[in-house]
Amino acid sequence: MPLNPNQILRQRYQIHSLLGQGGFGAVYRALDLNLNRWCAVKENLGSSSTAQRQFEREAQLLTRVRHPNLPQIWDYFDESGGRQYLVMEFAQGVNLSQLVRQRGVLTEAQAVAFALRVLDALEYLHAQTPPIIHRDVKPENILLTPQGRVMLVDLGIAKQLTGSNSTPSGARGGSPGYAPLEQLSSAGTDLRADLYALGATLYFALTGHPPPDAVDRAMGKELPSPRQMNPAISAQLERAILYALQVTPADRPQSAAELRRALTGAAPPRARAVPFLERVGQIGLTVGIGAQLIIGLATLILVLLAVLIAVGFVVYAMSVLTRATGAP
Ligand SMILES: Nc1ncnc2c1ncn2[C@@H]1O[C@H](COP(=O)(O)OP(=O)(O)OP(=O)(O)O)[C@@H](O)[C@H]1O
Ligand SMILES: [Mg+2]
Repeated sequence: MPLNPNQILRQRYQIHSLLGQGGFGAVYRALDLNLNRWCAVKENLGSSSTAQRQFEREAQLLTRVRHPNLPQIWDYFDESGGRQYLVMEFAQGVNLSQLVRQRGVLTEAQAVAFALRVLDALEYLHAQTPPIIHRDVKPENILLTPQGRVMLVDLGIAKQLTGSNSTPSGARGGSPGYAPLEQLSSAGTDLRADLYALGATLYFALTGHPPPDAVDRAMGKELPSPRQMNPAISAQLERAILYALQVTPADRPQSAAELRRALTGAAPPRARAVPFLERVGQIGLTVGIGAQLIIGLATLILVLLAVLIAVGFVVYAMSVLTRATGAP
């Protein structure tokens, strides 16, 4: 049963309005009556013990992290009946999905700006010991405030990379269109899953459509070129997006820092992970080298022919001269 406006939890948090609702949780804007400040209250709607454990994990992970592009956790409690609540910092604004629906696709500068802030948060999470993989980067989980702040929310299915590299039991598989193949197929995810999801999020922000589902892509469904859908996108940004969206993790950027370099054009991607478009460029280069060889050979043959003609001419001239001087 969702919470009603003005309902007060723990004699402290007064519900104001519903901010969003997913399959497993609802998030409300609420007023903290003790401190007289706005907060976001996330309620766990999943009643299974797995869902409850997962919600507790989200709270524990948030307690351990502190970063300007991640929400700060302020409180966590159970209500009677087993309902769990997580109280966190409130970010006024809209999520990226709402923004694109309301105002249309972002400009290249806006898209790169938000992606760099999300990369800051991801780099921070990936640098934890053990590393934290968000596993649900998508437009609905990226908040943008009018002041330009970017916040990556929803660590609901995040996992910590332990030695066994296991996915938390009962964890959901990720969102179609944004989750990479290894996550949808339960093959095991690492930090490169977050980079794929950010590439997919950028694709949406610039074209208004999520990329095709990773399973469909693995079965041959084509990934439409972002530049065909939005010609205002630069070749460099398209290259970076397609690089992040490689189906095979080894072909993607190997770290948040590497994706940042590809987005800002600071350094070319490593040779072994050449994205599709660059491979096409290399084919062009190969054709160029072949053409040069043919031109070289033709020139050599022409020079030889010229030498033969010259020698023939000299021999002919000498024979004419010999006849003219009356030699027998
Ligand atoms: N701290 C926050 N401040 C403002 N709005 C928020 C905040 N956290 C979440 N929201 C809004 O609520 C929506 C849902 O939040 P969240 O993604 O955490 O929950 P969920 O998707 O329902 O949860 P889950 O995926 O764990 O079931 C977000 O898309 C966002 O619009
Ligand atoms: Mg969410």
